Amino acid sequence: MSKIGVIGGSGLYEIKGLVLKGRKNITTPFGKPSGQYLIGKMGNTEIVFLPRHGKHHNIPPHMINYRANIYGFKKLGVERILSISAVGGIKKGLKPGDIVVLDQVLDMTRNRKSTFYDGKEGVVHIDFTEPYCPELRQILLKAGKRIKVRLKSGGTYVAVEGPRLESAAEIRSFSMLGADVVGMTGMPEASLARELEICYSGISVIANYAAGISRQKLTVSEVMNAMKATTEQLKLLLKETFTLVPEQRKCPCAEALKEAKI
Ligand code: HPA
Repeated sequence: MSKIGVIGGSGLYEIKGLVLKGRKNITTPFGKPSGQYLIGKMGNTEIVFLPRHGKHHNIPPHMINYRANIYGFKKLGVERILSISAVGGIKKGLKPGDIVVLDQVLDMTRNRKSTFYDGKEGVVHIDFTEPYCPELRQILLKAGKRIKVRLKSGGTYVAVEGPRLESAAEIRSFSMLGADVVGMTGMPEASLARELEICYSGISVIANYAAGISRQKLTVSEVMNAMKATTEQLKLLLKETFTLVPEQRKCPCAEALKEAKI
């Protein structure tokens, strides 16, 4: 059975129900990942879990070594990643506690190492028309239906550099560009996974209304409380998703490097 990777975001530093088999320190040519990878099983599925901010949440979004994290999953034999993140809700109708299965990305990050291919191994341009694995998206939506966890199908994630939150005008402009949710970690995670031919899906939990959407000041405790409140739902969703993932991948992600190299 292929291994499934899970990246935990703010408020998610463990997977409840995971039967832990071990912990792995991984070294990579790109430096150190956010911490040890937890290796375990849920049902019959082998899971590799990494909390992207570190297990004590001590790594801010702009300091995360995204390349090392994704490379570590590849080294551990992971073919698919379910990535969980806390986000601010921009689109009307999205409220704290809602869970969105993302389908598009806007990348507004500026200072991140965002590729594995700096020219030494040739010049690589991966196709990113569909940033998230279409097969995993459908599986997540199906899992949600089966266990009656309400999921919003589709949403555009705007990735910002952080660590500060946004101004109201920034959120207004992102909204005009078509963004539905805002977060600080979704890129370059998604494109790095594609560069290593790993399927990647984005599950975003609305932790707060984005700046200017509600009149309230944004607080960190609001984000953490919303994540805590959805932990049980996420656990159920992951568990059901694992049972639905087929052994063989039929999506294009597995061949992302085909015809991508010059
Ligand atoms: N903005 C950016 N990142 C976030 C937010 C937000 O409002 N909430 C959670 N992560």
